Amino acid sequence: MFNTRMIRLISFHRYLYALFVCWLLFNNVAYAADSSEWDEVELSILKMQWIGSLPAPPPDPSNQVADNIDAARFGHKLFFDSRFSSGGKVSCATCHVPEKSFTDGLAKAEGVGTTMRGTPSIIGVAHSPWFFWDGRSDSLWAQALSPLESDVEHGGNRMQYAHIIYNDADYRKSYQNIFGPLPNLGDHDRFPKNAAPNGNADAKSRWNAMTETDRNDVTRVFVNMSKAIAAYERLLMPSASRFDEYVAATLQGDNSNALTNDEIAGLKLFIGKAMCVTCHQGPLFTNHGFHNVGAPDPASKKSWIPFLSFFKDKPLFDVGRYKGVKEAQASEFNCLGEYSDANESDCAEIKFANTKYLATLGAFKVPTLRNISATAPYFHFGQFATLSEVLDHYNKTPEDVVGHNELTELKLSNNELAQLEAFLHSLTSPPAITAELLSAPD
Ligand code: HEC
Ligand code: HEC
Repeated sequence: MFNTRMIRLISFHRYLYALFVCWLLFNNVAYAADSSEWDEVELSILKMQWIGSLPAPPPDPSNQVADNIDAARFGHKLFFDSRFSSGGKVSCATCHVPEKSFTDGLAKAEGVGTTMRGTPSIIGVAHSPWFFWDGRSDSLWAQALSPLESDVEHGGNRMQYAHIIYNDADYRKSYQNIFGPLPNLGDHDRFPKNAAPNGNADAKSRWNAMTETDRNDVTRVFVNMSKAIAAYERLLMPSASRFDEYVAATLQGDNSNALTNDEIAGLKLFIGKAMCVTCHQGPLFTNHGFHNVGAPDPASKKSWIPFLSFFKDKPLFDVGRYKGVKEAQASEFNCLGEYSDANESDCAEIKFANTKYLATLGAFKVPTLRNISATAPYFHFGQFATLSEVLDHYNKTPEDVVGHNELTELKLSNNELAQLEAFLHSLTSPPAITAELLSAPD
């Protein structure tokens, strides 16, 4: 049936096939060995990124109820209560949605108006020394004051909020148990319905008509309310993800199926060639610092003389940390201010903060990558809709956009990018708190 030529041809094909199978086997074995064996240095980096290395959050001496569980329970209620807004519709949880790892899925957040930037996750946030993308607050409680009176977020005012606490029997009781007596807010001549130093003209003039003592007392209620919210936020810590399971087993010298080969290869890139770990460092995958990663800024294109723009009060584009650190230092609500519970010696961070450091131009806070699958869109303006767009940005990072871009082009292959992305999806885990504290109270 077969002539010699045909037999030779079949043999040759068999030979090729056998070679192919050998190559496949060799590659797979080599690949598996390569991706599951870690050297000493890599193991120490894995341990550093592991959730088991996450300590309790550092104390906040500026907030004497930071670790008071009654304050946290009270703060939990305030966090979800939309009465604390101008139209009764916006609470912290409107934008910090628990199911989305406390983000909202929007490029720019929507409260009573639209914000300038996107909503970051607040999982693990108590480990941060600075808050907001530009770090313009130095404590969690000082941070919370800002959305409450912002005319695009909650839109209400501190006088209105003090009345809500005073008039709600449950809130009043909780407040007084934690912070002591409320001022006599039933006296409407002294304490009008709406008043604030930074509200609309009417609210401002009512505020200015109050005595200084009454104004301070109301501001103190406002601050205490935020200190309770901060105590709640301090509980929002991540639990172990598949990545952590894998590291726990690997550190014990055990094999683990928690990550696929692609995810392991992505992890290797993350801590190696792709250099992600230089900034996304530690168990929360952030070094808590501010860096310039050449984030696209639509406004920078419109600016004729971008360099001059940061000298103005209102820069044309987002200068990030450069402005944020100045604002934190100027704030009456910082660690050194009269509403802080800290001693001056606790406030070195704000006291000695460098406000003239040009490298902070266009630098933004390094966000956590925990639960990154749930927090799209990405970057401070939601510039990137998907993780693959983010990775594309890192791979061929642009020239300087605002200030100096710290990144260098990575030139990873498509396969490597896919592995890196696969790895990022392994960082998902629910917050490590009870279901009761994770959703709106009954
Ligand atoms: C309208 C949507 C919206 C509301 C309401 C809102 N936030 Fe935010 N939140 C944001 C946005 C947007 C940012 C980032 C703004 C920036 O950096 O300029 C942010 C930033 C934060 C941060 C800083 C996180 C970090 O890593 O630095 C914390 C903490 C936070 N919000 C808590 C709260 C609390 C507490 C409340 C309620 C009192 C609240 N937010 C209400 C949208 C909102
Ligand atoms: C030089 C420091 C630095 C390096 C290196 C770095 N990042 Fe980032 N990363 C940042 C900063 C800063 C932001 C926020 C940028 C912004 O919003 O303007 C960010 C944002 C992100 C985000 C979006 C997070 C969010 O919630 O919006 C992801 C995802 C991310 N980085 C992944 C990576 C990966 C993967 C690598 C390695 C390829 C990497 N990063 C390398 C500093 C860095």
